[in-house]
Amino acid sequence: MKVEGREAAPETALAYLELAARFFAGRGIASARLDAELLLAEVLGTDRIGVYLRFDRPLAGTEVDAYRALVKRRGGGEPVAHLLGRREFWSRSFVVTPDVLVPRPETELVVERALAAADAAGGRARPLRILDLGTGSGALAVTLAAELPQADVTAVDASPAALAVAGRNAAALGVAARTRFLASDWTTALAAAARFDLVVSNPPYVPSGDLADLPPEVRREPTLALDGGPDGLAAYRRIAAEAARVLAPGGALVCEVGAGQAAAVAALFEAAGLGAIGRFADLAGIERVVIGTSAGAPAARAAS
Ligand SMILES: C[S@@+](CC[C@H](N)C(=O)[O-])C[C@H]1O[C@@H](n2cnc3c(N)ncnc32)[C@H](O)[C@@H]1O
Repeated sequence: MKVEGREAAPETALAYLELAARFFAGRGIASARLDAELLLAEVLGTDRIGVYLRFDRPLAGTEVDAYRALVKRRGGGEPVAHLLGRREFWSRSFVVTPDVLVPRPETELVVERALAAADAAGGRARPLRILDLGTGSGALAVTLAAELPQADVTAVDASPAALAVAGRNAAALGVAARTRFLASDWTTALAAAARFDLVVSNPPYVPSGDLADLPPEVRREPTLALDGGPDGLAAYRRIAAEAARVLAPGGALVCEVGAGQAAAVAALFEAAGLGAIGRFADLAGIERVVIGTSAGAPAARAAS
């Protein structure tokens, strides 16, 4: 394989893999080995375990060409999820395009806390009304619809292109009938009377001044999905105030936050009139999720 002008004789899958991993590491890619494995798995039509099982086998010429093309694009800064066209989230495969944020592992904590809120509100079999603000690929909306079989989910985004991707994911994962998509600036286009038991959001939260310092693959994601305004909190100001208006009594707002933002976001929730504020950290101890609850007790609603 020729990478950066070096020509190597035909080699085993492992040799190509190691060459690609070294190339990525040299480009400052933190997940160099993982990325090399995922791309090789794609070329071989297998998964990462399948790659290990094929370490000793020589690659065919067409496989070398295909791997070389993917390695070159990854080295040029394209995210692996864009090259593969998909990303795993909460154990499901989501279609991902350059129009949407690549779903992140830390966002699974929003799912975890939203499911806990559903349990606290009377159980997962209740016909919960859920709103996902800034749905992107639909990672949160579609996952919650799949995990909560009685739920009715509304997913909004300001980007019609993102909504198209989310719609594809809802269809592929079998929840399209219970998920509606709406192009909207946060809650602006919702019906005035619309109320929700659960509002989830992973809004853009990178301070505008930090955007230029993001790794190249992140900078390729939509600016609308990243830019949180001058202090990174612009979306939370809108979402806290607007969610407080559309939450049903006893309903919960569950938001992902950037590292170091939890206290400020909790204060915004409180200022919007939400109570029982909770802050939740990921396994690395970084606070990633803030929850607030609207006053009152949830009304009992029969399953339809
Ligand atoms: C960080 S991404 C999250 C995507 C997805 N929920 C996830 O967790 O992977 C934020 C999303 O908010 C959307 N967004 C940004 N500003 C918005 C606005 N004013 N109204 C609605 N959606 C907005 C972006 O288009 C983007 O899809």
